Amino acid sequence: MGRLITLTVNGIRRSVEVKDNELLLDVLRDKLKVKSVKAACWRGECGLCTVILNGKLVKSCLVLAVEVDGSEILTVEGLAKDGELAPIQKAFIQHGALQCGFCTPAFVLASHKLLEENPTPSEDEIKERLSGLICRCGTYYEIIEAIKDASKYYQLGRKPR
Ligand code: FES
Ligand code: FES
Repeated sequence: MGRLITLTVNGIRRSVEVKDNELLLDVLRDKLKVKSVKAACWRGECGLCTVILNGKLVKSCLVLAVEVDGSEILTVEGLAKDGELAPIQKAFIQHGALQCGFCTPAFVLASHKLLEENPTPSEDEIKERLSGLICRCGTYYEIIEAIKDASKYYQLGRKPR
């Protein structure tokens, strides 16, 4: 027997029945079909399950779904506006900041959040902020270049949301 919770995911209210021990990660992927949220380690090490929960970056494998009833969640699916990719998404493409793409949604979200909070981060600040995320393809250099490039849009207030 589960419990009904409501989550606002990328601006859309969704109700879903969850078990007490179900992870937010699994609810997002398996029940709400938000597939940009990746499952890799299930223990807080890779960072690929990252979402923005009530305005904060969190690893969704470390959160129980029942604990976040009523919350707002932003995933990479929610970054584009009116069919146009967000500046940080465009910058990732322009700089080739991905290979297999498995880690990309988490890096894009974390980069977006960083630039939203600090539109002019130093390289050290970028590295520090992304240190909890792992890219097995090793595209870190390109990711940093993409963030530097996208920063001008955030300085102008042209952030996606
Ligand atoms: S799946 Fe959550 S940190 Fe790896
Ligand atoms: S692009 Fe392949 S894991 Fe990052």
